[in-house]
Amino acid sequence: MSKVTVVDHPLVQHKLTLMRDKDCGTKDFRQLLEEIAMLMAYEVTRELPLEEIEIETPITKCKSKIIAGKKLGIVPILRAGLGMVDGVLALVPTAKVGHIGLYRDPETHLPVEYYCKLPMDVAERDLIVVDPMLATGGSSIAAIDFIKRRGYKTITLMCLVGCPEGIAAVQKAHPDVDIYIAAIDEKLNENKYIVPGLGDAGDRLYGTK
Ligand code: PRP
Ligand code: URA
Repeated sequence: MSKVTVVDHPLVQHKLTLMRDKDCGTKDFRQLLEEIAMLMAYEVTRELPLEEIEIETPITKCKSKIIAGKKLGIVPILRAGLGMVDGVLALVPTAKVGHIGLYRDPETHLPVEYYCKLPMDVAERDLIVVDPMLATGGSSIAAIDFIKRRGYKTITLMCLVGCPEGIAAVQKAHPDVDIYIAAIDEKLNENKYIVPGLGDAGDRLYGTK
């Protein structure tokens, strides 16, 4: 079973509270999402493998550590995942960025795909899928399905707010995908929105409602 890590750092929790507030406007919401994504990326990358290389400081030669292993890619689930990309890139500026376009059908609540473009160097890259909301889990599951079909093997999912149902669904569908999340809320309502949640992340990010 995959690992679920709740990123309970005080700065993340404080910023998330500001975002949840219904009076948080688009500009602040966007900035806070980017800041939280950066802080969460610090946790997601904590266990990246290191190797020692020899360098020369102005004083002497020495061995020092650099990141080893595969390079990273970031895959936002459109639209709202886009708001997390710059935060991750602030820490991992050389990461490539793929995109997956999915929206939840308002009637069925099932994900509908409209776009998928991923980095081509499959064998050389591990991916972090980003989306602020993990509600039913349908969108994350579908996105990871697409990515796996393209041959990617090591995938991490990074979300802001989830609920027990969505997390369980992702773990069942993709037991090899570790999940990093800032908060696990109580439940879904009858429209499959997270309670208390923060509302519709895409609309709040782009001011479309
Ligand atoms: C939101 C959110 C997730 C999805 C989560 O996107 O950004 O992608 O819903 O719900 P799920 O876990 O039940 O699939 P939405 O479908 O509203 O699309 P948008 O980002 O284009 O607004
Ligand atoms: N999508 C959102 O943006 N918010 C939710 O609470 C659920 C799905």
